[in-house]
Amino acid sequence: MATMAETQTLEEIARALVAPGKGILAADESDGTIKKRFDSIGVESTEENRRAYRDLLFTTDGAEEHISGVILFDETIRQASADGTPFPKLLESRGIIPGIKVDKGAKPLAGAEGETVTEGLDGLRERLQEYYELGARFTKWRAVISIGDRIPSDYCLWTNAHALARFAALSQESGLVPIVEPEVLMDGTHSIEESYRVTDRMLQALYTELFDQRVGREGSLLKTNMVVSGYDASEQADVDTVAELTIKCLTNTCPSSVPGVVFLSGGMSDEDATARLNAMNQRGPHPWELSFSYGRALQAPALKAWGGDANNVEEAQKAFYRRAKFNGAARSGSYAPEWETAEVA
Ligand code: 13P
Repeated sequence: MATMAETQTLEEIARALVAPGKGILAADESDGTIKKRFDSIGVESTEENRRAYRDLLFTTDGAEEHISGVILFDETIRQASADGTPFPKLLESRGIIPGIKVDKGAKPLAGAEGETVTEGLDGLRERLQEYYELGARFTKWRAVISIGDRIPSDYCLWTNAHALARFAALSQESGLVPIVEPEVLMDGTHSIEESYRVTDRMLQALYTELFDQRVGREGSLLKTNMVVSGYDASEQADVDTVAELTIKCLTNTCPSSVPGVVFLSGGMSDEDATARLNAMNQRGPHPWELSFSYGRALQAPALKAWGGDANNVEEAQKAFYRRAKFNGAARSGSYAPEWETAEVA
């Protein structure tokens, strides 16, 4: 497939993914995760329902104003829009860069109760070549870190950092921009200070491994969690504290040669995800673009409005556009929480 990205360098693609006013839509839910999302609206997770839902998102009018790239799942990158246009081609024709999740999920880490390591390195070089042929220009690999009683261990952090770097090096070799995603889960009663300490340790390990494994930081992006209080913590940090500690953590760990940091939403409310990103950008400029790569925080209202009914596609697209627009505004710190209750489309 001839694409606009064909002649672009890794750094140019990475920079296009974090272009001003835009961010990434994570639509790479695995079969298990999309089933959970569909269960929540009472829709059966069939291949056609998954296709129709993704079609709705990708054909939303104006999405390209605020969405720079979309992360697809293996099934989705092989599917097509209702008119037969393959999804990667559809996205590319709208100026949206297609990407692909390539990890095979977090599995129990041997000898480390309650901890996981992300698998998927075997055969990865060959899979990457196929994804490139299918139109992907960037990749994502997610490591999952839990905070709990005496975890995470250094063993877990470094094993995941090593795998992330192997994935990143292989992606760059195949002409694909790697998004390295270490996610420190928000589940738990931990304080924001504990989230800071763990995120700091994880990112130190990650950038050590990326350096050792000769990954070009200019042609990569970091996807990570914001530094926040655990969901069940007795005290919840406010938006300013989240913004300040997240920026402090990144300043200490993420090289300025990395073009951008794209946050995951990780179960934050749609409004929190937008307001916190906005607060960080109000404190800019920063050495890197601070952007979004949200799954739930971009899709939740659209999923609900759709409810599996083709008659609701227009409403669902409006809901998706609205969140994309608000997050697009948060890229420059120009979002206002009042918009949530106003008729802003
Ligand atoms: P959430 O924004 O729903 O956390 O999803 C982002 C993602 O891609 C997690 O890997």
